[in-house]
Amino acid sequence: MEIENEIDLATQRALLDKVRRHTGIHMADRKWTLLQGRLRRRLQALDLGRYRDYLAVLDSKPDEVGNFINLVTTNETSFFRTPRIWDHLWQQLLPEWFRQHRGATLQLWSAAASTGEEAYSLAMLCEEFRENHPTFKYQILATDIASHVLAVGKAGHYQGKSIEGLKRTKPEMLAKYFQASGDGYLVSPTLRSHVVFREHHLHKRLDGASRFDITLLRNVLIYFDEEGQCSVLENVRRAMSPGSTLIIGESESLTRLNVGFDFEQPLIYRRQDGFHA
Ligand SMILES: C[S@@+](CC[C@H](N)C(=O)[O-])C[C@H]1O[C@@H](n2cnc3c(N)ncnc32)[C@H](O)[C@@H]1O
Repeated sequence: MEIENEIDLATQRALLDKVRRHTGIHMADRKWTLLQGRLRRRLQALDLGRYRDYLAVLDSKPDEVGNFINLVTTNETSFFRTPRIWDHLWQQLLPEWFRQHRGATLQLWSAAASTGEEAYSLAMLCEEFRENHPTFKYQILATDIASHVLAVGKAGHYQGKSIEGLKRTKPEMLAKYFQASGDGYLVSPTLRSHVVFREHHLHKRLDGASRFDITLLRNVLIYFDEEGQCSVLENVRRAMSPGSTLIIGESESLTRLNVGFDFEQPLIYRRQDGFHA
């Protein structure tokens, strides 16, 4: 079926609004071309010619929302993305936490985990730390709103750009924690046993106690407007333990937001205890 190219403004706005409604992601009118391109494939798959008809599908078939979320999110990630934060974790955060919490289990959260490279990078770092500190224990929760990326993380099978990057930057980690499998590499059972993947919308509260000692909320705040960022940060803060650490992405900053985190150094913040939103 031929897909229309001239889309009326009301339909454009309604679809941009659906993005916000279902993900919290703010897409201004000028992002329409991007959204149009991403939805085009879905229209083709459903044999629909008009974007207005896709809107009707979204309204009438709740199951379609998951596909929509998978299409509209940007899932770019890599192993050990932004070397500086991994150095900081290795040199400061892990040893400091271990000194102060003997016998406890370090709780880490990769809060917009995408395909899981960030969570498995944490697991590799923790395994390396455990080699020198055999009593060290850790657990990683990896969450994302998009089901298709979580499926990749759960499978733990990587290839292409993702593996090329790791091969270039940390070949010793690839050799130690992965096994060649088919056209890619499979994450070792040890790493997998420490990472749980779960669907979670950052605009909702995470269930359970305030437990995370280290939270990575990286390269996701940029997609929300200021109000959205504040509400996400409030939800994240509630899931974190007193005195715990938040790590954000390179193009993000919390300095303008009064959300209960103290700046420690670029990208690294400490949860303010006693803060009330
Ligand atoms: C660019 S990736 C960042 C991945 C990783 N944190 C990193 O820095 O490499 C952004 C991820 O945020 C997820 N995301 C977007 N909106 C979300 C929301 N409201 N709740 C949870 N995850 C969301 C997307 O699905 C995507 O996988």
